[in-house]
Amino acid sequence: MELLSVRDLNVGFFIEEKFALAVRDVSFSVKKGETLCIVGESGCGKTVTSLSILRLIPPNGRIVKGNIHFKEKDLTRLSEEQMRDIRGKEISMIFQEPLTSLNPVFTIKDQIAEAIIVHENVLKQEITDRCITLLKEVGIPEPEKRLYDYPHQLSGGQRQRVMIAIALACNPSLIIADEPTTALDVTVQAQILNLFKELQERYKISLLYITHDLSVVAQIADKVCVMYSGIIVEEGSVENIFYRPAHPYTRGLLDSLPKRAHKKQKLKSIPGVVPDLLSRPKGCPFYPRCSLTKQVCIEKIPNFKELEDGHRVRCHILG
Ligand SMILES: Nc1ncnc2c1ncn2[C@@H]1O[C@H](COP(=O)(O)OP(=O)(O)OP(=O)(O)O)[C@@H](O)[C@H]1O
Ligand SMILES: [Mg+2]
Repeated sequence: MELLSVRDLNVGFFIEEKFALAVRDVSFSVKKGETLCIVGESGCGKTVTSLSILRLIPPNGRIVKGNIHFKEKDLTRLSEEQMRDIRGKEISMIFQEPLTSLNPVFTIKDQIAEAIIVHENVLKQEITDRCITLLKEVGIPEPEKRLYDYPHQLSGGQRQRVMIAIALACNPSLIIADEPTTALDVTVQAQILNLFKELQERYKISLLYITHDLSVVAQIADKVCVMYSGIIVEEGSVENIFYRPAHPYTRGLLDSLPKRAHKKQKLKSIPGVVPDLLSRPKGCPFYPRCSLTKQVCIEKIPNFKELEDGHRVRCHILG
């Protein structure tokens, strides 16, 4: 059974009196206990997709089409009040920069407690106990003391652990993590990824994990959606994407991973840049950077082709 199922999501923004789609016909689903990674370059629509699920897109943005089913409810149709019950309780979100997400003038305890109080009636002593348990859960040593620290007294990795504790506070069934380890160094990043995996095994939480980094995807994903310029260009299991990549963009991303390049060889990069929202080409958004482009690519966006079970690609030429 799918826990979250996004169908034909289209999200746009009013920019300089024009309306442009940032996310186009995006569909994916996440089962209980599963990790789906959305990967793609800056500006491809990862954050807009994740904010749309919680209906938190900026005021100049609109969901113009699509459904977001979560536990039999269509989130696009709920009232603001119903959404407030879901945010932070059934679905939690973790953002990239823990320093800006945590409030500098409140203690760690205050901030975890707030996440609990919003959704539940609990006694004061019970809250302290729950905060301590949560900090233990995310691997913060001496939680009884750290509870009264302010965010600046913790390291970057510890702050991200606190963010995860806040996300876990009300036992959510889905966590959306938008580049949660991007600001951390590689060893701390690996620890946080392991923490996600442990918690997921323990609580069977589903994870929608957003990143631009394929090496993170390899460590954590069950399924992967590769996004480019607002559309999903390829979707499949982590094995499909790493061993049998079909889209020229996915192949380009894999070629630019350090491990694959020969030691003394320069790292490959995909030439060109992602087109900006108001000047996206009519056809396949990747054609200006693709080495396989033919006339058909310039004329229309390719539909999905099914390659094998659950492995789908949007390319006129390959697949
Ligand atoms: N409030 C807004 N008004 C206008 N355009 C916006 C707005 N928010 C996002 N966009 C545009 O939507 C597109 C997708 O942005 P999004 O933030 O989802 O990218 P992203 O994939 O998360 O990138 P990054 O890796 O840099 O976080 C971008 O072109 C961005 O400029
Ligand atoms: Mg983003």
